[in-house]
Amino acid sequence: METSLSADLLRRTAPLYERVRKVIPPVEWPVFAGDIDAIRTLKRERNAVILAHNYQTPEIFHCVADIVGDSLALAREAMKAEADIIVLAGVNFMADTAKLLNPEKTVLIPDLDAGCSLASSITAADVRLLRERYPGVPVVSYVNTSAAVKAESDICCTSANARKIVESLGVGKVIMLPDEYLARNVAAETDVEIVAWAGHCEVHERFTAAEIRSFREQHPGVVVLAHPECPPEVVAEADFTGSTAAMANYVGAKRPARVVLVTECSMSDNVAVQYPEVEFVRPCNLCPHMKRITLPKIRRALETMMHEVTIDPAIAGRARRAIERMLAI
Ligand code: 13P
Ligand code: SF4
Repeated sequence: METSLSADLLRRTAPLYERVRKVIPPVEWPVFAGDIDAIRTLKRERNAVILAHNYQTPEIFHCVADIVGDSLALAREAMKAEADIIVLAGVNFMADTAKLLNPEKTVLIPDLDAGCSLASSITAADVRLLRERYPGVPVVSYVNTSAAVKAESDICCTSANARKIVESLGVGKVIMLPDEYLARNVAAETDVEIVAWAGHCEVHERFTAAEIRSFREQHPGVVVLAHPECPPEVVAEADFTGSTAAMANYVGAKRPARVVLVTECSMSDNVAVQYPEVEFVRPCNLCPHMKRITLPKIRRALETMMHEVTIDPAIAGRARRAIERMLAI
């Protein structure tokens, strides 16, 4: 009986395996198939959608997610979501953003400890001190921040729109926090003076310019795409810099023969599935926070309705305003 049930499950999930066979060996598929099947059923029963960030592992990204994208796309899609429940396969600040933009919905994060080194590098009190130190200078907060920090900010930005947001304010100087490297990378492209904070992404700060040069030596002709959370000297070595979605779009549009995505590891797996003719050089820097989200935890979230995201009403309105100002631009 057990055997025939398993065979039935494997048959049912076979079309899903076809999507990921390039990056998941056949021997691993039975480990995922049961949870994938259960999650797809639970989504229908609960009227739930799963929003997954580009750094989620391929079995989540390609087999259970309804919507995938970068932080900006996930925020926009969360705002439009009509399902009763939004499961955020990503990190806490993404789930908070979804709740802020669509407060009537139940937003679930499968692991409450899915943090972010950038979000934890700055507090609301720090922002108030910066305002005292630079009176009248507007505060642009990266979306990788807590709701409390957003509430102290004039406007948010993501890696996809940072320069545009900074320039939209029409002033000569802005405070841009908390990512020092994103701030310096934007400063290199604009005349607006930028006051930065010393926060770093623990994944992107580890890449070095020497490493990029060695990719080029070892893989002649490789096209180097870097995320703007990388240090400026890494960005200077890259052929293109952009958000996770912009990197995926670049590969789709230009189809380079060989490419390296200077960012979190799962991103290459997810894009490689879509463009089998492109060869991916794969340095691997894992985000431990993103990797806290797994199929069993997503399944459990849908079974138990945990963990539900709530935002302190005292800050929700101001935090929402900062995100909505960004989305309006
Ligand atoms: P994107 O907005 O480019 O997806 O990057 C956000 C991020 O840092 C996720 O960790
Ligand atoms: Fe935060 Fe970096 Fe992980 Fe993104 S990759 S969630 S910025 S620690």
